Amino acid sequence: MTTASSLRATRASYDTVAADYASLLADELAAKPLDRAMLGAFAEQVGADGGGPVVDLGCGPGRVTAHLRDLGLSAYGIDLSPGMVAEARRRHPGLRFEVGTMSALDLADGSLRGAVAWYSLVHTPPEELGPYVAEFHRVLSPGGHLLLAFKAGGGEGVRLEHAYGHPVDLDVYRFVPERVAGLLVRAGFEVRARLVRAADPAERTPQAFLLAQR
Ligand SMILES: C[S@@+](CC[C@H](N)C(=O)[O-])C[C@H]1O[C@@H](n2cnc3c(N)ncnc32)[C@H](O)[C@@H]1O
Repeated sequence: MTTASSLRATRASYDTVAADYASLLADELAAKPLDRAMLGAFAEQVGADGGGPVVDLGCGPGRVTAHLRDLGLSAYGIDLSPGMVAEARRRHPGLRFEVGTMSALDLADGSLRGAVAWYSLVHTPPEELGPYVAEFHRVLSPGGHLLLAFKAGGGEGVRLEHAYGHPVDLDVYRFVPERVAGLLVRAGFEVRARLVRAADPAERTPQAFLLAQR
C-alpha cells in the first residue's frame, strides 16, 4: 500500500494547489468530447441498471462529481485532501463531499452502484494498485460499474516539484492500460470498454479510460 509519508505528501500538495487547480480545470471537460463520452456511457449504464449511489473517488474540487450529477446520477465525492474537499463544497454547495482515502473506504461491502476514479490513482505506483482495485470491488454491489481515467504510458513515474503555480511534492505515474485491465480482471471485474486517446496539445501522454463491471 502507498506509504503513509507519500499519502501525506500528496495530501499536503493538493491542499496547497486546491484553489488554483479548481480554477484552471473548472471547464476542462467542455473541450474533451471523448472523456465526456466515457463519463456519459458510465452514467447511462448505471442509470439503465436502476441507478443508486455513485462515488467520485479522489474527487478533487468536485468538477467530475458535478458532471455526474448533471448526467442524472446520485453522486458524491471523497478526497484525501481537506483543501480539495473545502474547495469542492464551496463550488458545489448542493453536493456532498467527504475527506477520506480510497484505499480504505468507510463504506459497507456492496453499497455502491458506481465508482469513478478520474485521474486519482495517478500518484499510486503501478505495483501498488492491486489493493485499491480490491477496495473498489468490495464497495461495489454485484453488477456495479467502475470507470478509471489515467495517463497511459509504460509504468514510469515523473517527479513534480512545481504545479498549478505552487511548489508540490508529487510523483505522477503513467500506467500500461492492459496491465490495469489485467488487475481489474484479477480482482473480479469484467472489463467492458477501453479507450486510449491521443494526447491533446496541452497533454504529454495519451490518456486511458477503462469501464468495468463487478
Ligand atoms: C489529479 S487530481 C484529480 C481530481 C479530480 N478527480 C479531477 O479530475 O479534477 C488527484 C486527486 O486525487 C486525490 N487523491 C490522491 N490519492 C488519494 C487517495 N488515496 N484517496 C483519496 N483521494 C486521493 C488527490 O487529493 C487529488 O485531489
